[in-house]
Amino acid sequence: MDKPLHKAMPEIGQSGPEVVRQLDSFKEHDPNYKDGRVWSLVYYLDEDHSAFLKEAYHKFACENGLNPTAFKSLKRFETEVISATADILNGTKDVCGVVTSGGTESCLMAVKTYRDMARDKRRVKYPEMIIPETAHVAWFKASEYFGVKIRLVPLLEDLTPNLKKLKRMINRNTVMILGSAPEYPHGTIDPIEAMGELAQKYKIPLHVDACVGGFILPFMEMNGEHIPLWDYRVPGVTSISADIHKFGYAAKGASTITYRNLDYLKYQMFVYQDWPGGVFASSALLGTRPGGAYAAAWGVLQYFGKAGYRTLARDTLEAVKRLKAGVEKIPELEVMGNPVGPLFAYKSISPDLNIFAVGDQMDGMGWQVNRNQFPSGLHAMVTAQHLKVVDQYLEDLNTAVATVKANPELAGQGGAATYGMLAHVPLRGMVKKKVLEMYAEQYRAGGSELDLAGESDSSGSPLVDKALAWWVARQTRKSSGG
Ligand SMILES: Cc1ncc(COP(=O)(O)O)c(C=O)c1O
Repeated sequence: MDKPLHKAMPEIGQSGPEVVRQLDSFKEHDPNYKDGRVWSLVYYLDEDHSAFLKEAYHKFACENGLNPTAFKSLKRFETEVISATADILNGTKDVCGVVTSGGTESCLMAVKTYRDMARDKRRVKYPEMIIPETAHVAWFKASEYFGVKIRLVPLLEDLTPNLKKLKRMINRNTVMILGSAPEYPHGTIDPIEAMGELAQKYKIPLHVDACVGGFILPFMEMNGEHIPLWDYRVPGVTSISADIHKFGYAAKGASTITYRNLDYLKYQMFVYQDWPGGVFASSALLGTRPGGAYAAAWGVLQYFGKAGYRTLARDTLEAVKRLKAGVEKIPELEVMGNPVGPLFAYKSISPDLNIFAVGDQMDGMGWQVNRNQFPSGLHAMVTAQHLKVVDQYLEDLNTAVATVKANPELAGQGGAATYGMLAHVPLRGMVKKKVLEMYAEQYRAGGSELDLAGESDSSGSPLVDKALAWWVARQTRKSSGG
């Protein structure tokens, strides 16, 4: 029999303060990012900055940026945010763009733009895009959403894309090439200048995904750091995505997609002239666009100014340098690739040290550390806030390594077992199918009470545990002839 639905809306409304009290209580079991123990998802600095963002957001929480002529304030925010972005990305006055809801929307838009441009200008029917293996998962999403086939460029030893292979992938169906500054998994900046030369030679657009780097690399460079060129100074670069809600420290819901000129941007636009509701035009994916996010994005650029961002970049880089040096001092560990910006990953170079077991130990000591796969590693997205926890992190990392070395059986337990085995499941399609089923389960109106949180173990990822449990059970049945 179907279960009755839990009705989450009361028959009679409650007072505002009562609802707010409940909202606060819901936060109790969320990750506590304010003490610097979370290494992704949140870009928190301090309470003053947080309070400022909330105030700026609240002032425009009800305003809608759907129609740029209605709320002139919102269009002004957008124009000035794009202008500031073009400035730090070394663009000319021809650079144009849109404020989007986040990095994913910006990446999706680039794919739609270049697909439609290739259709229009070159009659390309079976569009393809060339992206390195380290491209953010948003690009794989864009491929599925917009029917653009991926040509995946393998990596060289230093984790940069193999440009010889990239060159061979270019054909008449290629609608765009992608490079990242930096890529998410290891923080390496792709060789954008060399990619730009190829892009120009074959007359193919080159997008730079600077969702992470866009609001920190420019300030690192202003501070005198050597950063390889990756922005509009590279002639072949035709567009850049840069998130303000990451290292711009804006409220969530603010990224930018900019293009070298309007010839590209117009393919991002949607216009429908025959709708009974009137002629409709839209610049990106969303219909209604959140005024609060734009106000906070504009506000935060004014709040920090270039000097403030340079200080944040300096603190972040100091934290990164100290963390990397501390990791490298541990003989069993190695930083992966050549990370330049605010993030890096490290792996075990000792057959006796399981890196995922080290991750479990770190989780046990109250850190929230992300895992990499192919190859296995631990990941750190470092913000200025982490400067104050560097020493504690490194002390705990040393302890974690010593514990795992002394107890090799930890490699076969908890999250280490799950992540390790999952990386070795040969049938990736099967993993995808099972994860998809379980993921969808969480979206029932009846609420399976987010199973993800339910059976949490030290891996912090029961979703993955379950996928694997299923696979292991299946393998066992198989091997026992069932
Ligand atoms: C390089 C890169 N591109 C795109 C994204 C997607 O951004 P968002 O999570 O804001 O959608 C991320 C997120 O971390 C990223 O690192």
